[in-house]
Amino acid sequence: MNILEIKDLELNKDGRKLLNKINIEIWAGYVHAIVGPNGAGKSTLANTIMGLSGYRDFSGDILFKGKSIKNLTIDERARLGITLVFQEPARFEGLSVDDFILAGIKEKKSILVDEALRKVGLDPLKYRQRFVDKTLSGGERKRIELASIYTMKPELVFMDEPDSGVDIDSIKYIFEIIKDFKKHGTTVILVTHSPDVLKQAEHAFLFCAGNLICKGEVNKLFEYFTGRCAPCDHVGKPDKIEKGVKNG
Ligand SMILES: Nc1ncnc2c1ncn2[C@@H]1O[C@H](COP(=O)(O)OP(=O)(O)OP(=O)(O)O)[C@@H](O)[C@H]1O
Ligand SMILES: [Mg+2]
Repeated sequence: MNILEIKDLELNKDGRKLLNKINIEIWAGYVHAIVGPNGAGKSTLANTIMGLSGYRDFSGDILFKGKSIKNLTIDERARLGITLVFQEPARFEGLSVDDFILAGIKEKKSILVDEALRKVGLDPLKYRQRFVDKTLSGGERKRIELASIYTMKPELVFMDEPDSGVDIDSIKYIFEIIKDFKKHGTTVILVTHSPDVLKQAEHAFLFCAGNLICKGEVNKLFEYFTGRCAPCDHVGKPDKIEKGVKNG
């Protein structure tokens, strides 16, 4: 079953095509990855699916469980269980970590906050009373945002560069959470450049210059990315698609 279907999605900004007729099917319950060089349109796609302001004026359609979500607000999409861990985690002046995580939980139990913080490798005693502002590092905020989404038990989670700003010792917590999401039936879409993150996925899509170039098995796609895509200057649409990778 497809949890998400993107149909002929096209997004233009300032006369530039940021996403060019994208068609994607996301199988429910799998871990997918979206790979591609800087500026490929990966975050733009995630932002458009979430319905963030500035990313709502597109042609084509986005179906969640078979129904169009095109006209839904970001909150309505979130209530359906569509979530995003941002590439650049937001700051919320004056909001404690405790309140930030509790805001997303129906059952307001502090034990759930403790559990979620431990999941991302942060000591609840040290972090619950901190504020989600500039006094936390980017990596800490990213892990707190991930902890918050973990407690929501979403249907679909986009993780935009889940390892960026996160130190090498803490990445293992992120990988564990990806496994937990899968165990709970959450569909995961990882946006990444990192081979280690890509290895967590079961299926992948390669983007370049606003185009979906190919999709398929992770190893084949990674070979294509390192061999053909990384050495390229990424200007315009790559001309040839490796045989066997496109629909692998
Ligand atoms: N709101 C916007 N207004 C204008 N241009 C935008 C906007 N959002 C994204 N872009 C442009 O769209 C292109 C794709 O950006 P995007 O952030 O999606 O890339 P990305 O694949 O996520 O790259 P990275 O790996 O660097 O995160 C870039 O050239 C970017 O400048
Ligand atoms: Mg990005």
